[in-house]
Amino acid sequence: METSCPRLLVISLMVVLSNGVLVVMALAPSPSPSPLPSPSSSTPQFTAMFAFGDSLTDNGNNNYLSSIAKANYVPYGVDFYEGPSGRFSNGRTIIDYLAYFLEKYYFITTIQLHCQNFVFVGDLLQIPSYLPAYANPLATGRNILNGVNYASAAAGILEETGRNLGERFSLSQQVQNFENTLNQLKNQMSEQELREYLKKALVVMILGSNDYLNNYLVPYTYPTSFIYNATAYADLLIQRYARQILALNSLGLRKFLLGGIGPLGCIPNQLATGLAPTGKCVAYVNNIVGMFNTRLRSLVDQLNSKHYPDAIFAFGNTFGAFGDILNNPTAYGKTSKIHILWYVAFGFELNRIYNHFQQNQYVFWDAFHPTQAANEILARKAYSGPPSDCYPINVQQMALM
Ligand SMILES: *[C@@H]1O[C@H](CO)[C@@H](O)[C@H](O)[C@H]1NC(C)=O
Repeated sequence: METSCPRLLVISLMVVLSNGVLVVMALAPSPSPSPLPSPSSSTPQFTAMFAFGDSLTDNGNNNYLSSIAKANYVPYGVDFYEGPSGRFSNGRTIIDYLAYFLEKYYFITTIQLHCQNFVFVGDLLQIPSYLPAYANPLATGRNILNGVNYASAAAGILEETGRNLGERFSLSQQVQNFENTLNQLKNQMSEQELREYLKKALVVMILGSNDYLNNYLVPYTYPTSFIYNATAYADLLIQRYARQILALNSLGLRKFLLGGIGPLGCIPNQLATGLAPTGKCVAYVNNIVGMFNTRLRSLVDQLNSKHYPDAIFAFGNTFGAFGDILNNPTAYGKTSKIHILWYVAFGFELNRIYNHFQQNQYVFWDAFHPTQAANEILARKAYSGPPSDCYPINVQQMALM
């Protein structure tokens, strides 16, 4: 067992290299592996992260789909080591930051579980280990052991959400895709190992924005706003969402971070509708996504009170956290609340100003999506923030359970 481990590591390195991702690795002298402390049963840990979501966290799934909602071209990714990757940001997403925080402090890879003194692949490479996108052909074998990202731009909780933009993995499809991953994992570990592995994996779900932006708020394309009032629609979304969350729980996943919807009434796309007074957000939009958020927080309470064995559910207060950045930009080192560096609407650049140093000053990257600077703040709040940011406990505390 021990002797087979280094060979496994080499194989996984070669796979990554063949993707062309690790040119730096080929040029740099390889640092000698330093032993890590052996994980013990008392070591706080996540075994993996499985991410479900939309364009806020898509890391390349839509590159493989026939969709208008893609971000695999410049200027997306200008601050990302890989360049444009399909991420809807200048750099990292919230998931990338969470993986980074977790790897730094809490990830125990399966390689380590088997070979107690082995090093993180990510440490060797001097880059955080990014989760593979589910649709990437390289997302197989050992590459999926740290988790998989299923997020798909334009996707929503409801099946038809985002249909106007083309193919996407809806939430229910994302859950089915996880089942495919599960079948692969079954080939790589024993039944009992898998059970433990899933029990200690973090699930991050950030969905719902498109059920408003690419459904309820587009009455000429979707009939939902004629069928449901805002309260009934929020109820419907939560009911469907709960069904998928419980499906994942019944497949063995136990630790859930459920991110709420941000203040959509304040995003440049909504401000451009002219429905809000100058300098204000669109109150109606914020009110209706607020109904979803209130219900999602209650769902978390409800799920926690049912005491599903070993399970814990947390609510990420994206609305509050993002609202705080917008209301107090200077407290976060951001100069203005509505500036966008690149205004990109599906490939159409309206504004071509680019400056690496200025990038950190902005909250919005395009009409819908935050900059990596804002994503880092949001991820940090989920990771270690107080209950007002992540309720009832944060990700760091979940790792200790
Ligand atoms: C919204 O619709 C539900 C179900 O049809 C109804 O019970 C409720 O009274 C409506 N709420 C408002 C504010 O109209």
